[in-house]
Order: sequence, then C-alpha cells, then structure tokens
Amino acid sequence: MTQQILVLPGDGIGPEIVTEAVKVLDALRDRHGLDITTVEGLVGGAAYEAEGHPLPEETLQMARESNAVLLGAVGGPQWEALDRPLRPEQGLLGLRSELELFANLRPAILYPQLAEASTLKPEVVAGLDIIIVRELTGGIYFGQPRGVRTNAAGEREGYNTFVYSESEIRRIGRVAFETARRRGGRLCSVDKANVLEATELWRQVITELHAEYPDVELSHMYVDNAAMQLVREPKQFDVVVTSNMFGDILSDAAAQLTGSIGMLPSASLNADGTGMYEPIHGSAPDIAGQGAANPLATILSVAMMLRHSLGAPALADAVEAAVGRVLDGGLRTPDIHYAGTTRATTAEMGDAVVAELKQ
Ligand code: NAD
Ligand code: IPM
Ligand code: MN
Repeated sequence: MTQQILVLPGDGIGPEIVTEAVKVLDALRDRHGLDITTVEGLVGGAAYEAEGHPLPEETLQMARESNAVLLGAVGGPQWEALDRPLRPEQGLLGLRSELELFANLRPAILYPQLAEASTLKPEVVAGLDIIIVRELTGGIYFGQPRGVRTNAAGEREGYNTFVYSESEIRRIGRVAFETARRRGGRLCSVDKANVLEATELWRQVITELHAEYPDVELSHMYVDNAAMQLVREPKQFDVVVTSNMFGDILSDAAAQLTGSIGMLPSASLNADGTGMYEPIHGSAPDIAGQGAANPLATILSVAMMLRHSLGAPALADAVEAAVGRVLDGGLRTPDIHYAGTTRATTAEMGDAVVAELKQ
C-alpha cells in the first residue's frame, strides 16, 4: 500500500535542506520501487505568515493521516516577539505533543571521513557511535503550571514545572533498554537526582525497569558530569537516556563530536511507530538563503524514516552508504569543509547523494 509522507519545510534553512531530502525520497520512489507519495504542509513561522498560526489544523490533520512526517526546522528572529502560542517553535512542540511522539532517537555517529572536521582529537572521536534517547513530550518543556507572574515583592517572575509521572519515565525507559539491547548492551541514564525530585523518581523508575532487562548494563550519571564526559571520552557511552531538556542540550554537544550539527538526524516516535523525522539543528538564520546549509542531517533523517516508519531497512542502509560515498569523494558543505576537500553547496551535496544512490 502506498505510504504517505507529510513534508514540512518550515523556516530559515528548512526549505533548502528539505528540498535535498525530498530529492532522495523521489529517487527512492522512481528508481528503487519505494511506494510513497508526498504531501506538503505549513508549520512554524511560514504557517504563521500564511495562516496566522504555527500549527494550522490542516497540518495536524495531514500529519495524523500520514505514515511519517519529514520536518526541516522552525523559528527565526522575526517571530521572537510574538505571543508564545503563536511562535514557530510552538508548531513543532504542538506536533510532538499532539502525535504523542515521546521517544526521540538522536544517534551521533562519526563518519570516518569526517574525523578531521571534528573539533576534538581524531582518536577521541574515531569510531564514535552513540545514541541519545530523549524524552520528548514531558518534563520541564510541558509541565504545568508555567508562565510569568508578579510575585509578592511586586516584581515579575518566570516559572516552569519540571514534572515526570512514573508511566512517562517507564515508557521512555523501555525504548532505551530495547535500543541498548539491540546495540552494545549498555545504557546510561542521565539525571540530576542529587538536586531535583523529578529526576530522583526518574532514577528510581529506570532502576526498577532494569529488572526486566538484566542483559543490559545500566549506569547512572548526573547531567553536569555527562556533559563533561561527552567531550572527554564520548566512546564510553552506548545508549544515553534522559529527560527532554537535558537531551536537547546534550544532543547539540554530541552533534559537534561528529564534525557538525549539520550531520545529526533524529526520529521522534510514538507508541505505534508513527514518526516525525528532522535534523536536530534549527533554522540557522545566520546562513539561510545562501545555499550553505548541510543537508546531510535531513537526508540521514530520511534513512531513519525508512527504517522506523516505512519498513524499508535496506533502503535506509543504501541512503547511509550513499552519504558515506559522497564524503569519500571529498565533497563538503562549509560547516565540514577543510583543506583538501571540495566545497559544495546545499544542492550540490543533495545531488551527489542522489547520484550515489543510483549505483
Ligand atoms: P541552530 O541549530 O539553528 O544554529 C546553530 C548554529 O549551527 C548556527 O551557526 C548555524 O548556522 C549552524 N547550523 C545549524 N544547522 C546547520 C546546517 N544544517 N548546516 C550548517 N550549519 C548549521 O540554532 P540557533 O541559532 O540556536 O536557533 C535558530 C532558530 O532555530 C531559533 O529560532 C530556534 O528556536 C530554532 N530551532 C529550531 C529547531 C527545530 O526546528 N527542530 C531546533 C533548534 C533551534
Ligand atoms: C530541538 C529544538 C527544539 C527543542 C525547539 C526548537 C523547540 O531545539 O528540536 O532540539 O528544544 O526541542
Ligand atoms: Mn535543540
């Protein structure tokens, strides 16, 4: 049966990188027999401009009717002063929450060809293959109450609530243990249990769950130490599971280990395998419209979509291998460019991946 993919380019470099990822999807459909159809929708600032809302009802409806969503990025300085519910980021957060995409997989893999692009010593990052499992629909991002109020002293105070229920922790914990079981068998749960009750419960529930996964080696680490360990000796990790905000921060740090944030894809999954796929980076307003964005994180997100939502693991492997061959050939967007490699635009990089896919 034909599977439908909703494409949401969004803002900034979003449309540029998504164009390249769609070229890859088109090539898979036309030449590799992938039975898909794509529909396009509005999200973020683009949706606000056209419809007055960052997540129009029509977009949400199309997302619900699709087998997978491919998203570029949202946000930009021109929308920062809007009321919070109208800001582009709310479009993304709304999709995650409405579709119950609680499990966010963020693999950080160093392509050997990019060892020199990393700002860390090659021996520290060589062979790096870790995955951060980030809780995506709870924690301080969604906890109530939240807002800005006037306190007793008559000054404004901003407040958010860091809250996790047992069941929220358990369901992300299961995804993480299952992921570890299929990989290196090691899971590190990252929290701030020494200070925050919400993560003390996190640690307890993850520890209880461990009884069901005795074959997985479990460790716990405070998030401040984890940030340091990620840049000190990143290969000590296999699978990391953590809360929404900690995962957001740690995954940007992990991205740089691989040479550039433009290399890191992600999958956001719900309980029945529907998924949204997006690079972990943002709309990069500083380079938007210049053809300078690295489209590989988005193209690698297509590979994750093929694997997790479309039931096409062999094509996922093919896309990843094509990316590897393009890097072998020396082509680099500015973020990963260094002496001895060939500078490419966003479109040249996408075209090169499509060309490699044909082989
Ligand atoms: P960012 O990830 O957009 O950019 C950080 C830095 O990385 C910039 O220097 C940018 O040029 C660079 N960069 C990012 N992606 C790149 C790519 N593919 N190729 C080359 N360089 C790349 O983060 P920011 O600047 O903090 O945020 C900008 C906007 O994006 C904000 O409005 C923010 O809310 C939004 N944002 C959206 C998402 C998302 O849609 N998933 C994620 C993060 C940030
Ligand atoms: C990400 C982004 C988002 C997040 C923002 C844009 C809401 O930083 O996908 O990593 O914080 O989750
Ligand atoms: Mn982020």
